[in-house]
Amino acid sequence: PGRRPLKGRKAIVTSGPTHEPIDPVRYIANRSSGRQGHAIAAALAKLGAEVTLISGPVTIEDPAGVTMVHVETARQMLTAVEHAMPADIAVMVAAVADWRVVHAADNKIKKKPGEGPEPLELEENPDILKAVGHADDRPAIVVGFAAETANVLANAQAKLQRKGADFIVANDVSPDSGVMGGTRNAVRIVSPTGVETWPDLDKQEVAMRLAERIASALVGNEAG
Ligand code: C5P
Repeated sequence: PGRRPLKGRKAIVTSGPTHEPIDPVRYIANRSSGRQGHAIAAALAKLGAEVTLISGPVTIEDPAGVTMVHVETARQMLTAVEHAMPADIAVMVAAVADWRVVHAADNKIKKKPGEGPEPLELEENPDILKAVGHADDRPAIVVGFAAETANVLANAQAKLQRKGADFIVANDVSPDSGVMGGTRNAVRIVSPTGVETWPDLDKQEVAMRLAERIASALVGNEAG
């Protein structure tokens, strides 16, 4: 059994990368495995929350005890998040592609020998975290991630404001860190009241601590 402080609470978690089609066989993607997001969904469920996990394409298993929604693109992910609202908690962990191809081709793009490649025209994807953080029915607790390779802390602090988040979980995803696609994570929890540096931990452990932190913030908000 154990403690279930999030019993009766709804949580939405996004996880994994998004795939943005170029043509029927090619896409733009990134190295996100979904491990951290899936672990957070499982941890929130373990604390009693009713969790909807919205994931881009990953090869890891669906966690037990959550409602899964599988999507491919950023726009599909946004639609799924909107559909899952309202919620008490939103944790946006997905590595959403910043850009999509303006006109994905209906047929495979053929190379034209001697002519060189056609440039890809890109446009910005919707910012899902920002939309949730500023929604009329904003969840009581909104958490975002800041995966950076440089200026991790400064970028996370700027992101808190811009995205309308209560916490930003900042992590260094430089190739040397082994975080992206790996099983461990070293994070800093950035909130308006300060920065907390957690040691290098298994992603499951980061998830459990974050779920506990979210549970106490939720109770704290209601008391205050
Ligand atoms: O702006 P940046 O991509 O660095 O912000 C990262 C945070 O915002 C993560 O929590 C990510 O899940 C979320 N995000 C999002 N939709 C986007 C881009 C980022 O939800 N289009």
